[in-house]
Amino acid sequence: MTTAWMIYNGSLAGDKFRDQAELLQEAAMRKGVEARIVANDELFIDATSSFPSRPDFAVLLDKDVLLGRFLRTLHIPVYNDPEVIERCDNKAHQYIALAQANIPMPHTIVAPKTYPNAPLQNERYLDHIIETLGFPMVVKEGRGSFGMHVYLIQTREELFEKVATLGGVDFIFQKYVASSHGRDIRVNIIGDDIVAAMQRTSDCDFRANITNGGTASTVVLTDVQKKIALRAAQAVGATFAGVDLLFDENEQPLVCEVNAAAHIRNIYNVTGINVADAMIDYILEDLK
Ligand SMILES: Nc1ncnc2c1ncn2[C@@H]1O[C@H](COP(=O)(O)OP(=O)(O)O)[C@@H](O)[C@H]1O
Ligand SMILES: [Mg+2]
Repeated sequence: MTTAWMIYNGSLAGDKFRDQAELLQEAAMRKGVEARIVANDELFIDATSSFPSRPDFAVLLDKDVLLGRFLRTLHIPVYNDPEVIERCDNKAHQYIALAQANIPMPHTIVAPKTYPNAPLQNERYLDHIIETLGFPMVVKEGRGSFGMHVYLIQTREELFEKVATLGGVDFIFQKYVASSHGRDIRVNIIGDDIVAAMQRTSDCDFRANITNGGTASTVVLTDVQKKIALRAAQAVGATFAGVDLLFDENEQPLVCEVNAAAHIRNIYNVTGINVADAMIDYILEDLK
């Protein structure tokens, strides 16, 4: 019998991370796969001895890239590819890959490297950012989810204050897309297929994330939205992707980000489509 590990992060509080693993476990069981839910802190990356038991494949629902790489060294197939998870987990890396593939996206500038006690303070640099992007502008930390590390900056003073807190953190400056204030589209992609999509809107914030107060509804994607979302997932190499699309001033899509560890519960509740089934189908086909 095929066996699998559904790996989630044991350090994160709240049920939603384990819930994600349960969705995958149930989908795997439906296909006759014996799936175990495993927290990353139940496993030891013991470089000097091997695991007592090993699955036929692992689904890495977390961003534990080191664990993913370790499993790969043991020749355990890991989905998504840990290298893709790493690229997507850092928005600065990701935007460089998206830009290289000519994916339409908001004007984005990657901040220079700084250190914890030496944040960006160069006035000439920051004034150039202000001239280029104007206010309001968006500042995003490289690592962050649920809108928690995405900031709308209104003034020069706020910009200096924010970057002063980001010493040692990878981050980007981005043009604020006013036409997309409080709304975006999440597209879930498996392989070359779009399996589900939802529109998210927020009355209380420029960020449409559901965790941040947004509400979701079903949406019919335009051909352009489909094409851009698929191209974005391909540009970062993601087999499983949750692509966020913004609306430019002509309602055309701009890629906001590609999530390699996209949550699938909300989209299931909204659309009735269980992305976990498509993930398992893809993996079983891929392993043949
Ligand atoms: N440049 C932007 N202009 C307008 N809204 C944005 C912009 N970038 C992000 N947003 C909003 O903020 C939300 C969170 O940004 P995102 O880059 O997806 O980070 P996270 O990984 O936290 O979800 C998006 O879903 C979107 O609603
Ligand atoms: Mg997002």
